[in-house]
Amino acid sequence: MVQSKCNYTGSTEEKVSGSNPTTLYNSVCKNHALRTQSERHSEQLSNNDLKLKESYNKDCNNYASVNDNGDLLVSRSLQGKEKSLNNFENDVPKVLVVDDHPASRMTAVALLGMEGYEVIEAESGSAAVHLVSEKQPDLILLDVMMPEMDGFEVCQLLKQDEQTRLIPVIFITALNDRRSRIHGIEVGADDFLSKPFDRLELAARVKSLVRQKRLNEDLDHAERALFSIARAIESRDPNTGDHCERLVKLGKAFGEYLGLSRNQIRDLMWGGYLHDIGKIGIPDSVLLKRGKLSPQEWEVMKRHVLIGEKICQPLRSMRGVIPIIRSHHERWDGSGYPDGLKGDQIPLLAQVFQMIDIYDALTSERPYKKAFTSTEALSIMIDETNKGWHNQELMHQFAKFINTVNNS
Ligand SMILES: [Fe+2]
Repeated sequence: MVQSKCNYTGSTEEKVSGSNPTTLYNSVCKNHALRTQSERHSEQLSNNDLKLKESYNKDCNNYASVNDNGDLLVSRSLQGKEKSLNNFENDVPKVLVVDDHPASRMTAVALLGMEGYEVIEAESGSAAVHLVSEKQPDLILLDVMMPEMDGFEVCQLLKQDEQTRLIPVIFITALNDRRSRIHGIEVGADDFLSKPFDRLELAARVKSLVRQKRLNEDLDHAERALFSIARAIESRDPNTGDHCERLVKLGKAFGEYLGLSRNQIRDLMWGGYLHDIGKIGIPDSVLLKRGKLSPQEWEVMKRHVLIGEKICQPLRSMRGVIPIIRSHHERWDGSGYPDGLKGDQIPLLAQVFQMIDIYDALTSERPYKKAFTSTEALSIMIDETNKGWHNQELMHQFAKFINTVNNS
């Protein structure tokens, strides 16, 4: 048994001695696309449509340009007064049509142009990837079968990229191509359409997905704002270093070790950044105080978990993280805060997160303590567990996990 003299109390807010460990974190044409009235019929694109497109192009002052490689064309339907894009305000959505067959592309471009979208074209998968990063389309209409990089590869690439993952992808497949549809779902496709296009169906799906994308972006921006706040809080404390980043990595690894679901692992990782976001509501006089907190100050400090919960509560995507934020200072024997939960009353992810939070605090150097070795830290945590502070079984798993990591 490693003997470690430590007054560590199982809380990253409490301190061994000296200064307070301030772990601060941390809208188509006046609804033209959906003119479902009697003048519109569910019509499949035919040669008549293409002729219609030609005349429409003249009427609407459309234009198109081709780049040096011949694989980028930009078509844009300038709206007549009666064709203002509805529900998307003045921001005309951009749709990228990817197909190696020019005739197929023209069909889609004609229909989307008539609906008032700005349309960009690419004749290959690689040209599409390039255009996506350059033009940031609001939706991609993607052919499955293309030489070299096929539609599946393109979709997978875009959905794995943080910058492009929110762009909806509609796969163009043959009517009964079940295998392609299944593969499409696996690589992240948002919807499927079959050729020949049904005009109303195309318009409805594109409109719906573009709207959804914009809602997702708004949400994404709100999430990013919270993460920025958390990072700003962390940066106020030069002593904790990259505590949040380490917690994110450790949370992912331990979550995978425990066989947690993808969403649980994501929540654990987000918890790494957001668990102490409520410290933004704690006065500096308490948060940054050097020396022991008075009982009153300690009560103020403990409020950070409730403040953090309140900050994140309006966002549905934060539902899984909130238990971590609120309960990461509970103890197995009921002596923690804010609710004095006991045993399995404590949300599992909060228990898991607490393990990595304490371990990281122990193995990091702070002004008031040295960095304990991994073995020392585990020994301290086992002592705490024997005092009743942590879940015995989880502690056992965590020790095994750390030893596995250290021996790999
Ligand atoms: Fe905390």
